[in-house]
Amino acid sequence: MLDQALRHYWHPVAVSEEVATEPQQVRLLGENIVLYRDDEGPVALADKCVHRGATLSAGCIRDGQLMCPYHGWQYDRTGTVAFIPALGPDGIIPSQARVQRHRVREQYGAVWVALEEPVADLPPWPDDDWNDPDRRVFMVGTWRWQASAGRMMENAADFAHFNFVHAGFTELADGPFIKPFEIELTGDGMTYAYDDSVLVREYTLHLPFALHDRKSVVAATGGITWSEQGDSRAGDITTISSVASPVDRAETLIFVYLSRNHSLDVPDEDFAVGFDEIMEQDRMVVEDQDPLELPLDPREELHLKLADGASIVYRRLMRELIAEHA
Ligand code: FES
Ligand SMILES: [Fe+2]
Repeated sequence: MLDQALRHYWHPVAVSEEVATEPQQVRLLGENIVLYRDDEGPVALADKCVHRGATLSAGCIRDGQLMCPYHGWQYDRTGTVAFIPALGPDGIIPSQARVQRHRVREQYGAVWVALEEPVADLPPWPDDDWNDPDRRVFMVGTWRWQASAGRMMENAADFAHFNFVHAGFTELADGPFIKPFEIELTGDGMTYAYDDSVLVREYTLHLPFALHDRKSVVAATGGITWSEQGDSRAGDITTISSVASPVDRAETLIFVYLSRNHSLDVPDEDFAVGFDEIMEQDRMVVEDQDPLELPLDPREELHLKLADGASIVYRRLMRELIAEHA
C-alpha cells in the first residue's frame, strides 16, 4: 500500500556526478533500475532483460546502446530493443522486445526517478536557495541506512532527541523540556518552528521524504550551532536538508544538503565536518527501531501530544497520502 503510493513521487537514486556512461544498478522501492548517461542525459530502465532476465546493468554500452551481457541484445534509450545479434542486421525484432523506461530528472546534484505518473514536483527549498546569489547550497553527502525511509524522516523531523542522541553536538540550548510550538499544514506537508535562546529552527517537510531544517542564529552566545564554523552572527541562516530515498522497505539512501547565507568565503568542506558523526548517532538508534516501518496507526506506539506533535501529524499525513495514491 505504502510502496504503491510512493511510486507516484520523485525520489533521488544517485548523485549526478556518479552517473556516467557506464551502466550501474540502483534500487528504488525494491525495483532494480539500470542507470547510465548518454548525450541527452540520464537514462533509467528496468534492469532485467526481456529475453532471459539477465541483469542489464552488468552489460555495457555498444554503439550508443545498452547491450545485455548474455546474448548481446541492444536497447535504445527508450528501452526498446533495437538490435538482436542472433537475428542479424535484417532480423525482425519482436514488438514486445522492450523494457520499462522510467521517468528521470536531474536536479539538485542528483538523478531522480518516479516509477509511476508523479503527483508532485521535486521538493522546493525554503529560500530559493539554489538561485539566490547571496546563498550557497551544496550536497554534504549521502548515507545508506538499513532502515525504512519513514523512520528516517521522522527522526529528521524530531528535535526532542537532540539532547540524548546528539548530547554535546546539536543539543537544544535550553534543555530537553519541549515548549509549546505550532504546526501548520502546507498542502504538501507541514511546517513548524522551534526556538531556544540561540537558534530558531524552522522545519518544512515536503511529503513524503524531504525535510528542511532552517536554523537562524538569534544570538551568538557560543551555543552549538551549525554556523559556528563561520562567525555565528545573529541573522546567519543555515539550512540542513535531508531527502530520504526508499531503496526498499529496509534500506534508505539519504541525501543531505547544506545551504547558508553566511561565510561564503569558507570552503564547503568546513561545513561538512561533523555530519558523519551525527548521522552515525542517528543511524544507530533508527536502524534498531522495532518495527522497521513507521507505524501509521495512531494506536501503535505511545505519543506525547506536544513533544511528538510533528511526528503525530507526519504519520497522519502519510496515512492520507496512502489513502489518496495507493
Ligand atoms: S538474456 Fe539478455 S540477451 Fe539474452
Ligand atoms: Fe538526530
